[in-house]
Amino acid sequence: MSNANKVAIVTGASQGIGAEIVNAFRAQGYRVVATARSIRQPDDPNVVAVAGDIGDRATAQRVVDAAIAKFGRIDTLVNNAGIFIAKPFTQYTQEDYAAVLNVNLNGFFHVTQLAIEQMEKNKSGHIVSITTTLADHAVSGVPSVLASLTKGGLNSATKSLAIEYAKSGIRANAVSPGIIKSPMHAPETHEALGALHPMGHMGEMSDIVNAVLYLDSAPFVTGEILHVDGGQSAGH
Ligand SMILES: NC(=O)c1ccc[n+]([C@@H]2O[C@H](COP(=O)([O-])OP(=O)(O)OC[C@H]3O[C@@H](n4cnc5c(N)ncnc54)[C@H](OP(=O)(O)O)[C@@H]3O)[C@@H](O)[C@H]2O)c1
Repeated sequence: MSNANKVAIVTGASQGIGAEIVNAFRAQGYRVVATARSIRQPDDPNVVAVAGDIGDRATAQRVVDAAIAKFGRIDTLVNNAGIFIAKPFTQYTQEDYAAVLNVNLNGFFHVTQLAIEQMEKNKSGHIVSITTTLADHAVSGVPSVLASLTKGGLNSATKSLAIEYAKSGIRANAVSPGIIKSPMHAPETHEALGALHPMGHMGEMSDIVNAVLYLDSAPFVTGEILHVDGGQSAGH
């Protein structure tokens, strides 16, 4: 199928890595449904912006309905929306816990379930979730159990979905970043954060975008957790 006929949903698309993924898909000709709480409709008829909290099933339903109503199909879902709260474990509040589970897990579950229902009709589709290498390699000095709890769950769910749908033409993969220069991290933190990687520097948003594009163009790859992390997953 030509890219001009492909339709992608990108969550967390108002800024950072998600916004760059939208730009990259558009550059390849895909039509895109972009969603986040603060997203605005761009001046591009081949992008539909849907504003809302992705942890709410009603938002996920509006996103999927918009893709079908405007573009007629869903080929790729990028579960990119995510929040990160680093704290010593006992200092996490109930609000922190609820907020992280809402975006990182509910924000995956509802839209993925609804998108796969549509993909099954075409017997093809691809789910890519953005996780974190912290889930398999915790870093001393970056206490972040809620990231591991949720993104580790997404890594496992990715493999589980890959197997469940392997014979249905639907693939599931994840991109596992190290620490990336996005609006999530203030520039004054970059030097210290860079030092946490074997390569000695942070990643660029384009590193994650390119990994998503690769996975989307790799029909024999499913169940893969593609680490894009400057060597963090290999050791230190
Ligand atoms: N940057 C890194 O170092 C890094 C490392 C590992 C993994 N990651 C993962 O990469 C993904 C993108 O991160 P980023 O660095 O681009 O972060 P970012 O700049 O903070 O962007 C996060 C995006 O998620 C959206 N979002 C947050 N809460 C939401 C909610 N309740 N409902 C809907 N959308 C919501 C935000 O939009 P609104 O505020 O408009 O809703 C925004 O578009 C995340 O899953 C993150 O965990 C990032």
